[in-house]
Amino acid sequence: MKYQSKPTLLFLLFLLSCISANSQILVNQDRLEQRIFDLAKFGLQENGETERVAFSDADLEAHQWVLDELTKMGLEAHTDFAGNIVATRSGSKKNMKPIVFGSHIDRVPNGGNYDGCVGSMAALEVIQTLNENNVKTKHPLQVIIFSNEEGGVMGSRAIAGHLGKSALGVKNSTGYTMGEGIMRLGGDTTRLAEVVRKEGDLAAFLEFHIEQGGILEKENLEIGVVEGIVGLKWWDVVFTGFANHAGTTPMDARQDALLAAAKFIVAVNEITNSFDGAQVGTVGRIKAEPGAPNVIPGKVTASLEIRDLSSNVIQKVYQAIKTKTEEIAASSNVTVEFRPLDTTADPAIMNSEVQKIIAENAKSLGLTYRYMPSGAGHDAQDMAILAPTGMIFVPSKGGISHSPKEFTSAKDMANGANVLLKSLLELDKKLD
Ligand code: GLV
Ligand code: MN
Ligand code: MN
Repeated sequence: MKYQSKPTLLFLLFLLSCISANSQILVNQDRLEQRIFDLAKFGLQENGETERVAFSDADLEAHQWVLDELTKMGLEAHTDFAGNIVATRSGSKKNMKPIVFGSHIDRVPNGGNYDGCVGSMAALEVIQTLNENNVKTKHPLQVIIFSNEEGGVMGSRAIAGHLGKSALGVKNSTGYTMGEGIMRLGGDTTRLAEVVRKEGDLAAFLEFHIEQGGILEKENLEIGVVEGIVGLKWWDVVFTGFANHAGTTPMDARQDALLAAAKFIVAVNEITNSFDGAQVGTVGRIKAEPGAPNVIPGKVTASLEIRDLSSNVIQKVYQAIKTKTEEIAASSNVTVEFRPLDTTADPAIMNSEVQKIIAENAKSLGLTYRYMPSGAGHDAQDMAILAPTGMIFVPSKGGISHSPKEFTSAKDMANGANVLLKSLLELDKKLD
């Protein structure tokens, strides 16, 4: 062996210690869970539950808190024109594309503390862990906390260039339209074109999320490697009859919009079930007008949502529901109109190399895992158009989500965050 000078040996020892330190870096489980609790304070109600629908005051306050946390960690953090938080930790090599990861902090009405929040708080935890361990990546790392995920993956669609003008008019339960909401969050609807990224602008995208179903828990597994995400489409289905006196209008002379809507709800369930496959169809919202016990409802607006891994299946189920509903409307002496809502996401297949990296890192951490589809929508859907994308799932207790009863243990959250951290470091090594 050739003689090594003392400084060379010291340098080699330093390199070795860096490599072994990197392979042992793990997130701080307690700190991650504490951040989940801290985030849940934004929108906390008297009953102990949190409400934080996109664009609400609580959403704006939480947005500012996350922005401040990321800035304190030394990242260049700002709100983009679509209301997303974008925070960049610089890389050591010049002209590298960012490796991007993140999730969302907005919630459905009456939602839980974990959907989106786990991936977002884990993103902060990963950055803090890298900082504490003085790990410098080659690529810049970019955290994105997407705006209004629950109202139609708004922030990610804007980045993918899919947020059309008509989407800006869609209201959520706060009463604000997406356009108004973007302005409230500190974005600017006149400059949305500037947030659009092209395919190849990012090196990769990762999203860590709770499973929101019961498969991992049932099979006693710790990590889900997502293979694909369902597409989802929404419509407002408007039934128009005639509002009249409920006491004096005989049963055979009514144009009852709510009666037609009731038959439509049954048809959605029956028709969705009548096809082979895993497609799902839901009516989750209904408004009857004028809304009094002694008035026959003259107008009903109901929602329709259909999901599947195939756009063709969604279309097939939709057509069957529409045809049946038109028959129901005609026989109920009312009219019906299906109004597509511009809030939708296409099905997305996750990158196979990224899936492999996630699986290998789960294995190297001694975690059990399986490959699985996602029945929930995610920002990763639109990001998959721009870059090789992968998703990491951890168990949801009882398979419950979109509910205040949603729960994921600190250990499971830390498992997922560690897989995220290791997968990011591996992507940093592998990608140009
Ligand atoms: C988003 O959370 C969705 O799946 O509805
Ligand atoms: Mn959700
Ligand atoms: Mn989510």
